[in-house]
Amino acid sequence: MERNHNLDAQHAHGSEEEAFERSLRPGQLEDFTGQDHLKENLKVMIRSATKRSDSLDHVLFSGPPGLGKTTLSYIIARELGVNLHVTSGPAIEKKGDLAGILTALEPGDVLFIDEIHRLNAVVEENLYPAMEDNYIDIVIGEGPNSRSMKLTLPRFTLVGATTRAGLLTAPLRDRFGYVARLDYYDADELAFIVRRSASLLGVGIDKPGSFEIARRSRGTPRIANRLLRRVRDWAVVDDIDVIDEALADKALTRLDVDEHGFDYLDRLYLEALVIKFGGGPVGLDTLAASVGEERDTIEEVVEPYLLQQGFIQRTPRGRLATPSSFEHLGIPYQTGLI
Ligand SMILES: Nc1ncnc2c1ncn2[C@@H]1O[C@H](COP(=O)(O)OP(=O)(O)O)[C@@H](O)[C@H]1O
Ligand SMILES: [Mg+2]
Repeated sequence: MERNHNLDAQHAHGSEEEAFERSLRPGQLEDFTGQDHLKENLKVMIRSATKRSDSLDHVLFSGPPGLGKTTLSYIIARELGVNLHVTSGPAIEKKGDLAGILTALEPGDVLFIDEIHRLNAVVEENLYPAMEDNYIDIVIGEGPNSRSMKLTLPRFTLVGATTRAGLLTAPLRDRFGYVARLDYYDADELAFIVRRSASLLGVGIDKPGSFEIARRSRGTPRIANRLLRRVRDWAVVDDIDVIDEALADKALTRLDVDEHGFDYLDRLYLEALVIKFGGGPVGLDTLAASVGEERDTIEEVVEPYLLQQGFIQRTPRGRLATPSSFEHLGIPYQTGLI
């Protein structure tokens, strides 16, 4: 199975995988394909901040895994010519951890907090004054003699990333000057990304070959790059210099990635919804248990793409299969089976 459904593994922890992603990560806004609206806004914000010799406003990126949130945070720091400090919500356990991170910042630096919806409440509250008024309260001493002190921080830019914008508290969300949602990429954009990656990897690919990979990448650059790597393996083994549509199709079919880019878990989910639960409506927990997956993985990784592609609907009574799902499984469309 190509796509890794474990949410953490989506962040490519394996060192080889990490190195691979890094090697393909665009370093400048110019090389970042798609998300044009967002890119345009960022460009203006960066230019303005640079002209005013001020720090960039805090930015929040939300959207499913693999769409470029981390990449954009690297690009922002680079375009601003400042240091990037990388951490994540769960990694900042205590107020002291946050103070340590914030006091290490130099003027204008970018602090990237991945999975920012997973910050704990105490840390989050201490982040507010840092974001708004550039100070943090620290406690000096212990017991009855302890006292609280305001520590002034340099102006900095917080870039937050989240797969679950809905889980962010309103006070945190309101402190971002720009909140941007990343959308799935279309086939043209993904095909372009695939060809760019192929050229960086020194792999030959023709246009139809790049589109075949693009169409089957669930709208996600990270998946497109991974599939390209797997198809490349086939090219090497078969002594083929230029990946074409036939080779891409053969390799992806062997990898169990179907014509919609759905993989094993997508199909398991659709089969449960359509066959076991008669197309729904069925609750998320019931569905997750039925396919043996974490609720979060279903909600953050599996469902967003199925929703966007019109295969399912979320209703107050639960998940509902659309005619497309029935058709995909070759089952006549029916409702109200249960
Ligand atoms: N717009 C893009 N153009 C080119 N490559 C991209 C783009 N967005 C993402 N990528 C590639 O996909 C991989 C995953 O992107 P990443 O920023 O880590 O996603 P996220 O942080 O949203 O999970 C990166 O290695 C990068 O090479
Ligand atoms: Mg990321």
